Amino acid sequence: PHRIIIDCDPGHDDMAAILLAASHPAIRIEAITTVCGNASLENTTRNALRIVDAFGLDVPVHAGAVLPLLHRYEFPAAFHGPSGMDSAGVELPQTERKADAVGAVEAIIAKADANPGEISLVVIGPMTNVALALALRPDLAQKLKQIVFMGGSATEGNVTPAAEFNTWADAEAARIVFKSGAKLVMFGLNLTHQTLLSRADIAEVRAAVSGDNPVADIMTFYCGTYYAFAGEDKPGAPLHDPCAVAWLIDPSIFGIEQLPGEVIIGDGPGYGQTLIDFRPQDPRHDTRVKNVGVAMTVDARRFTELVTPGLIWGAKR
Ligand code: BDR
Ligand code: CA
Repeated sequence: PHRIIIDCDPGHDDMAAILLAASHPAIRIEAITTVCGNASLENTTRNALRIVDAFGLDVPVHAGAVLPLLHRYEFPAAFHGPSGMDSAGVELPQTERKADAVGAVEAIIAKADANPGEISLVVIGPMTNVALALALRPDLAQKLKQIVFMGGSATEGNVTPAAEFNTWADAEAARIVFKSGAKLVMFGLNLTHQTLLSRADIAEVRAAVSGDNPVADIMTFYCGTYYAFAGEDKPGAPLHDPCAVAWLIDPSIFGIEQLPGEVIIGDGPGYGQTLIDFRPQDPRHDTRVKNVGVAMTVDARRFTELVTPGLIWGAKR
């Protein structure tokens, strides 16, 4: 199986990504590391601990960055609710479990050191922890097998016209990661906006168990906030974070193009944008570094068929 660390800010779709990874034999989660993003670090860490506890995962949770490197913003309660993982009904139980004494950055470095070339880092929140790890240890770029991330976009943004939330929340960190030399595979909005968690999929998750179903209720909240701005007529909501895990499980669902990419950090309307260079070039004179594998296409039906069983697995725990 793929041995992964999930660096996350749960987060509704973060939970869906964790459930997909935890439920699938092709993946072994070695650690969960948390970062501020969708909510404060305190909240994202608490949510990760609740996930680990509620679904019986034998995985340590390491807390990471309290703040982005440079960017300061109000944690956005609009999408995931004030807790970072609000529910439309029943919530995950509270937990007494505590984060590991080892911090996220140290844990990422230690895992990579102990298993050179083996660990895939799946980043589904802002890239602050990864940038800090690379600042301490630039050689990590080669020690990690790859960095597979949800972030950025080759087309439209969401938090601004140009930028996706994760790369916008800590653009300086994302820029460090893009320039690190690590193998990068990007699942940006251009890709994730092609995916769909439909009302019927949630109904299927709900029907899987009788009685309380926090998984269905949490995903109902997530789709509800999406419908509130995209329109009630929408058939479902895009599922961002599980894309990165789904690619590890079944890369044949996706089409990836190796391209030059950078993150814009200048003040102004482009802040946090991932600028992907699609210009055709004569290969004899092309000196550009094609540093990012950019996911461009997805078989949305097969993607949903992979993700929904993960949610159902969680609902049954
Ligand atoms: C990303 O931002 C967060 O709200 C989601 O969990 C996802 O990681 C989408 O822009
Ligand atoms: Ca996330």
